[in-house]
Amino acid sequence: MANRNEVLKQLGLDLARGGAGTAQGIATSGAEVVSIDPTTGEALGAVRAASAADYEAVMTRGLARFQDWRLRPAPQRAQLIADLALLLRQHKQALGELISLEVGKIRSEGLGEVQEMIDICDFALGLSRQLHGLTIASERPAHRMLEQWHPLGVVGIVTAFNFPMAVWAWNAALAAVCGDVCVWKPSPRTPLCSLAVHTLCQQAMQRHDADGVFGLVQGGAELGAALAADRRVPLVSFTGSVAVGRKVAATVAQRLGRSLLELGGNNAIIVCADADLELAVRAITFGAVGTAGQRCTSTRRVFVDRAVAPRLTERLLAAYRTVRIGDPLEAGTLMGPLAGPASVIAYETALAAATAQGGRILCGGKRLERPGFFVEPTIVAAPPQEGFPIAHEETFAPILYLFTVDSLDQALAAHNAVPQGLSSAIFTEGLRSAERFLGPAGSDCGIANVNLGTSGAEIGGAFGGEKDTGGGRESGSDAWRSYMRRQTCTINGGGTLPLAQGVEFPV
Ligand code: UN1
Repeated sequence: MANRNEVLKQLGLDLARGGAGTAQGIATSGAEVVSIDPTTGEALGAVRAASAADYEAVMTRGLARFQDWRLRPAPQRAQLIADLALLLRQHKQALGELISLEVGKIRSEGLGEVQEMIDICDFALGLSRQLHGLTIASERPAHRMLEQWHPLGVVGIVTAFNFPMAVWAWNAALAAVCGDVCVWKPSPRTPLCSLAVHTLCQQAMQRHDADGVFGLVQGGAELGAALAADRRVPLVSFTGSVAVGRKVAATVAQRLGRSLLELGGNNAIIVCADADLELAVRAITFGAVGTAGQRCTSTRRVFVDRAVAPRLTERLLAAYRTVRIGDPLEAGTLMGPLAGPASVIAYETALAAATAQGGRILCGGKRLERPGFFVEPTIVAAPPQEGFPIAHEETFAPILYLFTVDSLDQALAAHNAVPQGLSSAIFTEGLRSAERFLGPAGSDCGIANVNLGTSGAEIGGAFGGEKDTGGGRESGSDAWRSYMRRQTCTINGGGTLPLAQGVEFPV
């Protein structure tokens, strides 16, 4: 077992005082937020939550910084992100291990999450020279039209426990380069991950006279609600459940602010009769078992063609037998614990519903009798989805529902019949099936893959989904536009004042 104190010390988080952990510059005065190690069930450390006064102080500092930050050229702003990326590279090992400690991800996935932060910082650095606008043809003589993008203001970032660092970075790296300042409200499950990242942010901000660009408020739902209601926050980026996302969206809409929502997924893989089953098995197993099924992009449903269903099932069961469950930092472990006791109960409740609705557990199905929050990865042979309502819900656990289908039509209809629309995949060697899946009547998700799984997206593409997933797009492509305000400018370089649409107004 990794030396937990060693990891924390490397990051400069002196939590040995057993609570009241504060980082330089963010001393707070609220209740204690205790971090529980899901591998042992024991406390790792604690921080103090932000009180209402602390929230106000962070917001005020951010607003003050915005006044000059928005005036700095974007490539200069990006130097802050370049320095942050350097610090992240230097501390990659310790940060990755901290994710393993606090969230239970295996070492490779913890490191992968830190790499995802580094990648988005690199992306933001290049982006800082590409915040392009358009020039538009004017209908009036000697007139010119253009479209430009300006910084927006304070961006509220509310993140979930399962990606305690990377999702913040997707938002914050882009927002900072776009000239915004950020206030981050992380999950109260992961106070140490956010504290560690924020400590590095402070070092980078100091070097760039940029204090206030990145703010942190630790604590519970009341702080997320405060950000949603705060008129000084033009954009709230929220990652979490559909239920909470609806509330955030309603509150932000009430004041006509913008929200960027990354809510639940219920992701499926279609396996056609002509699929490369070896690839499919590996992708399904990583998608369903990786991160203990606690990614938004985790694979929760498989629709397999009847012709290959027995072979796929047999190979999947064989793959599942090789999955070592245990301490996420031990070499050879492929699956760590769930986030906490509530997640174990949700797993058991979903499986009880699945069997009551006609599902048959093919493997797994039980919690492990050991400290921490461990369960077995589970495959359920499911009846047709119409009569299996549990498959319409997202359970954040390693449960896979396996459906047998007779055609691609049937698979696509069932695939799209759930409320969520984040990620999707098809395994086929056939161009026509792949093209149908990617076509307008194919997958209705924000992410659609051919011959790779549903999880583990790269940062270069826009990340997000449709329907109950919330419609937001973060990370790559042109997601940066969400963090800026668009301005249409028309410039008259002539000596007359022609009106648009040929309107005459002789004064
Ligand atoms: C999430 O689960 O909230 O595509 C984000 C993936 C990761 C991000 C997941 N790059 O699985």
